[in-house]
Amino acid sequence: MKIAIFGTGYVGLVTGACLADVGHQVLCVDVDEKKIQNLKNGLIPIYEPGLEPIVKLNVEAGRLSFTTNAEEAVAFGDIQFIAVGTPPDEDGSADLQYVLTVARTIGRHMQDYKVVVDKSTVPVGTGDKVHAAISAELAGRGLSLEFDVVSNPEFLKEGDAVGDFMKPDRIVVGAQSERAVSLMREAYEPFNRNHDRMVVMDVRSAELTKYAANAMLATKISFMNEIANLSELLGADIEQVRKGIGSDPRIGYHFIYPGCGYGGSCFPKDVKALVRTAKDVAYDAKLLSSVESVNDSQKHVLFRKLSEHFNGKLAGRTFALWGLAFKPNTDDMREASSRVLMESLWAAGAKVQAFDPKAMEETQRIYSDKDELMLCGTKEQALKGADALIICTEWKEFRSPDFSYIVSALKEPVIFDGRNLYDPERVQRKGIQYYGIGRGLSISKGVEA
Ligand code: UDX
Repeated sequence: MKIAIFGTGYVGLVTGACLADVGHQVLCVDVDEKKIQNLKNGLIPIYEPGLEPIVKLNVEAGRLSFTTNAEEAVAFGDIQFIAVGTPPDEDGSADLQYVLTVARTIGRHMQDYKVVVDKSTVPVGTGDKVHAAISAELAGRGLSLEFDVVSNPEFLKEGDAVGDFMKPDRIVVGAQSERAVSLMREAYEPFNRNHDRMVVMDVRSAELTKYAANAMLATKISFMNEIANLSELLGADIEQVRKGIGSDPRIGYHFIYPGCGYGGSCFPKDVKALVRTAKDVAYDAKLLSSVESVNDSQKHVLFRKLSEHFNGKLAGRTFALWGLAFKPNTDDMREASSRVLMESLWAAGAKVQAFDPKAMEETQRIYSDKDELMLCGTKEQALKGADALIICTEWKEFRSPDFSYIVSALKEPVIFDGRNLYDPERVQRKGIQYYGIGRGLSISKGVEA
């Protein structure tokens, strides 16, 4: 099949590379000339495990190519994926200008039937807007060509996007015609062999499915963070509670890890956008608004603990920070908890010595003018002479550190663990004071006192 993909960001590139990898002819188009030039030379703009090799392999095999020429892309693909960004507006709603620009471009250049697929996360009703934009362009050209608009949301986790694409739990297709469904089936057939994972529905339901999935996951996290905060006050240990409730299959073990808040490009943006969409139809989404506000305050929990520990005297202190990315296996800093923490520390007059296995360059790019931030080459360097160690991201390499080294390198042996990586008692036996999230049990045993 011949497939065109608009947008070579995270979603577009993964989609393009994976579709090419199973044998389709894929042409990716982007307005960013430099990015396209780099991609032609095999340079990937993001860090995503497994992506670079399949981009290279498929470029070499002639199945994957890149262009800035939109007209060429429209002529090329029977299916046109729209995978451009939908950044949040000031009011939290998704900004559709890029999606609609692509829609108009398709309408301006198409010569025959096309399936136009919304892959970007777009608010319910966008399919109709894309349809209207294409129709208007066609009308302007005096044409009435047939086309279909399909919603096919992505469910890719950063750090595991290639795996998620290659082995999907489900392929949601919202379409209004059999013709479109059958072309989508053909495109996804290689991922759908053993049993049918395609869930076909109407366009609006497909659009809402994406938001509902992310909002449900965000709700699980905020729920656990709330119970964690309660655990602390009640002298219970959230890690025990987590195991206790996860064993109920109706609840499950996944996505119930408490921490210093969720970040990333999806959860914060999508929850906000869904609250906003609800407002547009005069519905007060109370639960979703709370999910968001619980998360906003959870991002301040570590700072509050630090402040209490040091009796509000943070000015002039230096803190070691392990983990900057919003989660492990990515260099993505969007909405990362580490940023809220660092910015609070700087505002309080403290300095930060930080280490992250992948997100150093990205951090440097964002905070290039911050003298109060020192980026360190190793996690050990970050510790040297610091007043405390803070952990914001659960990278594997932070899981079993040399605690004796931590004791020797820090001014005062104390750890603020935003991801509950350690057993409080074990850490305390090493002579280190320990603050986790929701580990009230340690308070009652005097560990945090
Ligand atoms: C998410 C969804 O998982 C994916 O299906 C969707 O398409 C895009 O959004 P992603 O943003 O890559 O993917 O990250 P994810 O692995 O879901 O983690 C999101 C955040 O939640 C991270 O900050 C993580 O640390 C936090 N988290 C996750 C928790 O705090 N506790 C948990 O139990 C799980």
